[in-house]
Amino acid sequence: MLNEQLRHMLQAMPKAELHIHIEGSLEPELIFELAQRNGVSLPYASVEALRQAYAFTDLQSFLDIYYAGASVLLTEQDFYDMTMAYLRRAAADNVRHAEIFFDPQTHTTRGVPFRTVVDGIWRACQDGPISATLIMCFLRHLSEEEAIATLEEALPFRDKIIGVGLDSSEVGHPPEKFARVFERARNLGLHLVAHAGEEGPPAYIESALDVLNVERIDHGVRCLEDADLTARLVREQMALTVCPLSNIKLRVFDVMGDSNLRRLLDAGLAATVNSDDPAYFGGYVNDNYLAAFDALPLDVNHARQLARNSFAAAFLEPERKRAWLAEVDAFFDAARAA
Ligand code: ADE
Ligand code: ZN
Repeated sequence: MLNEQLRHMLQAMPKAELHIHIEGSLEPELIFELAQRNGVSLPYASVEALRQAYAFTDLQSFLDIYYAGASVLLTEQDFYDMTMAYLRRAAADNVRHAEIFFDPQTHTTRGVPFRTVVDGIWRACQDGPISATLIMCFLRHLSEEEAIATLEEALPFRDKIIGVGLDSSEVGHPPEKFARVFERARNLGLHLVAHAGEEGPPAYIESALDVLNVERIDHGVRCLEDADLTARLVREQMALTVCPLSNIKLRVFDVMGDSNLRRLLDAGLAATVNSDDPAYFGGYVNDNYLAAFDALPLDVNHARQLARNSFAAAFLEPERKRAWLAEVDAFFDAARAA
């Protein structure tokens, strides 16, 4: 349960965010502003009408609206403005470092050049108030050939991307479908992550590890259905980027009290807390911490663990990682002394 002191600590503690789709940070107000700027007509009369449409029954019902929202992004400045808005909002939540997903295929299939997407997002990361790096996701509802073509398109921008991921409609699109493109990305020295075990079964988590060789699992909450898999994830200290509000909005769990975040931590899993698509799911990363701690038996020790896990699981130089972990420890030691 959440008292005022714990609420303050969750907000003030230094943290990393490892699961944020930049297109999912596009707020309805900015969607309307960009639509007007670009002469794009929207099938919603107002910001309020658009927000009203954010009532999802599952992942696909969300993705349909999310891809429609992204259709207002046309120019490099649009991608810059969206990214800068997220970085400022994350800084207010005391996020020190963000590893940001972007979906180039959502834009290149509409005729927006790859360069426009990456340059806009990347330039904002250089100008923004916090440390930020980019992970390019492949849309799993499209073919592996299209993913390979996207990876080839990214080669001139290799220095602007730290890794690749896999997102969009999970069920029916298992990790195996993308074995070759992940192998190619691995040979390029890119970090590897994949959404798995959000709506899909524990077997998808297993094949993300064995076939794709991922270094983190995005979501992964369904791992607890398989005791052997859970034991392996604990043994390997494989990070899970859990997104509590997303799981409720997409009906992975009915209510926050059903979230398995506490059970993941109790099992010894390297769980982290993240926002996924904050403009669509009712909040940024601190809202996720607050909602989970409000509904679940989580205390200050869990807060410290989650903050530590977020930096421990980040793709950072060891020295920067150590410095941020030390900042987390100093924060909680000072709070304990006070
Ligand atoms: N794209 C954006 N958010 C996603 C999610 N939660 N799962 C799969 N694909 C996504
Ligand atoms: Zn996601």
